Order: sequence, then C-alpha cells, then structure tokens
Amino acid sequence: MEIKHKPSKPTGKLGVLTPGMGAVTTTFIAGVQAVRQQIAKPIGSLTQMGSIRLGKRTDNRVPAIKDFVSLAELDDIVFGGWDIFEEDMYKAALNAGVLDKELLGTVKPFLETIMPMKAVFDQKYVKKLSGTWVKKGNNWFELAERLKEDILNFKKENDCDRLVMIWCASTEIYIEPLKVHNDLESFEKGLRENNPDIAPSMVYAYAALSLGIPFANGAPNLTIDIPALAELAIKNDVPVAGKDFKTGQTLMKTILAPGLKARLLGLNGWFSTNILGNRDGEVLDDPESFKTKEKSKLSVLEHILQPKVYPDLYNNFYHKVRINYYPPRGDNKEGWDNIDIFGWLGYPMQIKIDFLCRDSILAAPIILDLALFLDLSKRIGFRGIQEWLSFYFKSPMFGPGLYPEHDLFIQLMKLKNTLRYIQGENLITHLGQEYYD
Ligand SMILES: NC(=O)c1ccc[n+]([C@@H]2O[C@H](COP(=O)([O-])OP(=O)(O)OC[C@H]3O[C@@H](n4cnc5c(N)ncnc54)[C@H](O)[C@@H]3O)[C@@H](O)[C@H]2O)c1
Repeated sequence: MEIKHKPSKPTGKLGVLTPGMGAVTTTFIAGVQAVRQQIAKPIGSLTQMGSIRLGKRTDNRVPAIKDFVSLAELDDIVFGGWDIFEEDMYKAALNAGVLDKELLGTVKPFLETIMPMKAVFDQKYVKKLSGTWVKKGNNWFELAERLKEDILNFKKENDCDRLVMIWCASTEIYIEPLKVHNDLESFEKGLRENNPDIAPSMVYAYAALSLGIPFANGAPNLTIDIPALAELAIKNDVPVAGKDFKTGQTLMKTILAPGLKARLLGLNGWFSTNILGNRDGEVLDDPESFKTKEKSKLSVLEHILQPKVYPDLYNNFYHKVRINYYPPRGDNKEGWDNIDIFGWLGYPMQIKIDFLCRDSILAAPIILDLALFLDLSKRIGFRGIQEWLSFYFKSPMFGPGLYPEHDLFIQLMKLKNTLRYIQGENLITHLGQEYYD
C-alpha cells in the first residue's frame, strides 16, 4: 500500500462512533475514561502499552508504539454511537455488568453525558431483540441519509477533526453475498428499493464510507465483506477492517494452533464449548445469528493448520464449536477446549483448556487500537482492506486471490512491519545472519 501523506502528529479531536452501545462499547468507553482519569491502566492495548524493536538487536532501540507512530491521544477521543435502547452509557454499563460499581462510580458523570442516537434496526436480522429507540424511514436509503445527518451533527457538536466507525452491535443472522451486493450501483438501487437482503449493518457502513469515514466490523456479520462496499471504500479512499474481534476461545486457538503446527504435532479433533450469559449470548442463542458466529470461529483452524500442505497431520480433523446461553454467568464466560493431538509414531495425547475469561475486557482494548490505527491509515492515505490489522479479528478480511492469515504471531509481525514501513524504518525479517559474520 502506498503512503500518500507523511505521517504527522494529528491535531484536533477524533470521534469514535459505535453502532451498538452494549457490553463491549461501554467497557471500552468507561475504560478509556478511567485511563484518562489515571485510575486504571490500558492493559491489552498495543497502541498504549506495546513497544516495537527498530534496527538491529544490538541497537537497543525499542520505543513505545505510541511514541513511534503518530497516533491520536486518548485525551483527544470523543465517543458517540447508536443503540436500539435509549439508556445512557452509565446505565448501559451497569446493565452489561462487566465493570464493578466502584469503578463505574468514578466515571459516572462522564458516562451519563453519552446518549445513544436512534438506531437503524430490523428484527429480521437480530431475532432475539426488539428495540424501542429506532429510526423511521421509507427505505434504507432514507435511513442512510439520517445516519449521515447524525454523523455530521456529531462531528460539528463535538468539534471533531476526524471520525472512525466500529460496529459493536449484535451479531446479525447469517447471509451470503447476493446480486444486490455485487456492485455499488446495484447496492444503491437496493437501498432505494428497500431490498430485504440489505442488513442494517450495511446501511451504517454505507453511511460511513460515503462520508469517507474508516469502518471496522467487530462482529461476524457480512457487512463490508461485499463487493459493493469494497468498491465504495476504494472510490472514497477509505480504509476498512474486519471482522469479528478476536477474543476468548478463538484467541487461544490462534495462539495454540500455530505452536502445534510449528512442532508438527497432528490433530484428530478440537471440541470447543462455551457458557455465556450476556446479551450477546442471548442473541447468539438464535440459530441464525449463531450460524454467523460459528462460520467465523470454524474457519480459523483450517487456515492455520493447512491440511492440504500437511495431510498426514491435519486431514479430516473434527472441529466443533458450541455456544450455550447461560444467564448466571453474565459476561464472565467460561470456555472449554478438548484437543486430541498425536505425536511421534502417531501416539495420541490430549490438551484441556478451561478459560474463565471476560469477553468485553478482552474486546475493549481491540476497539481502542482499531480506532487509532484506522485513523492513522486514513491520515496517511491507505485505503480498502487493511490486512495488517488482521491481528484483531477472528475472520480477517483479505484481498482477491489471497487467503486470510490467522496465525497470531504472523499477524503481529505483519502489524509491526507495517508500522516500520509507515515510519520508513527497515523491516525486521529475524534472519540475524549479520550478528555472526
Ligand atoms: N465481547 C467479545 O469478546 C466479542 C468478541 C467478538 C465479537 N463480539 C461482537 O461484538 C458485538 C457486541 O458485543 P456485546 O457483548 O457488546 O453485545 P451486547 O448485546 O452487550 O451489545 C450489542 C448492542 O447492540 C445493540 N444493537 C443491536 N442491533 C443494533 C443496530 N442495528 N443498531 C444499533 N445498535 C444495535 C443492542 O441493543 C446491544 O445494546 C456482538 O456482535 C458480538 O458478537 C464481541
């Protein structure tokens, strides 16, 4: 990707807009505010806590990422978004039940000032929810226009210099790309004709891309993975990224599976099951929304293990993923994995994982990093799919003719090398011969 503008320190405010203001979004907003008030640390965020090696190992140049690349400051971020429920961010955070009341109390005055705007919603796409705070319009096109008005008003009222949009709303039902998604012309015709194959998430993405605003998809919905919106992103020079935040069980998978493959250990089966009791869990209790999530979670192993390249090790491994809605656990999910592997001479072994994780705690720093990196991409003139941000996603988007890169460590190397490339530093290949010449 060509760097069109030299990266320079951004000035002015960055507005982070989130369709969906539930558990993940409130944990993100409350968290950023807590960090700004210096009562907590941004653990898990590469932009805030990560460092990057530059030059040779003997050079001792390891700056913090935020000192190396020109990212927006946390103090310059303002928050906005949409939800189908009217409650302010303090009430929404209390309902989500992720953060404790003591911490929320310290950021309450700030959270209470953030109200969701009325959503674009269609229950066909999220069967388990029925919203009260929903826009009315004659067709998708009109609703997209309303969203654009919201965005421009938000920008003006908050005196924003730049904006990014990150989908943090519920998982929509599974759909495949259809004719109406094929190109921008058909899509815009479909918006005007209120085509039922256009999902609300696509309407938000269309509004953002039309205004040149970078868009990331945190859920597994199809959304921007359609040729029509890819065309719009390129036409308007907008960076996009997706999809489905890589947290919890899939994060573990993309940490462990590359290790098994590196040591050429075979796999007979990987059974993953979860109990989860938040609203996301409730939405995923609907088979059609679950199918979207299942597809996203299943694709990971196939791509990392490459059964075609290693048929003796990975042909026909059995991979099952289950999500069980279990209200008592709230956001504190428990994920179990049983992994049947085999080693030397085919001797079987087993690995068991019991991950008592907190979904939104893992997702919040991802939103922050994506907002800052997408803003950087836009400022330097990157456009279309930002594959270097695959690190953050369960189903990374990829260009035509490619396959997605799922291995967390390759993804991290790609991300850091992209930052080096942006700043004109040598890429690091880890060859290391020069130390021994
Ligand atoms: N938490 C994680 O670890 C994680 C990981 C990957 C993906 N995700 C995805 O992120 C999304 C958010 O997760 P969450 O835990 O915050 O869920 P949540 O249910 O707490 O929040 C989602 C919010 O979106 C709202 N909503 C639904 N449709 C909408 C629309 N059309 N417009 C505006 N708002 C709408 C809902 O009312 C709800 O408040 C889900 O799709 C989830 O699958 C979460």
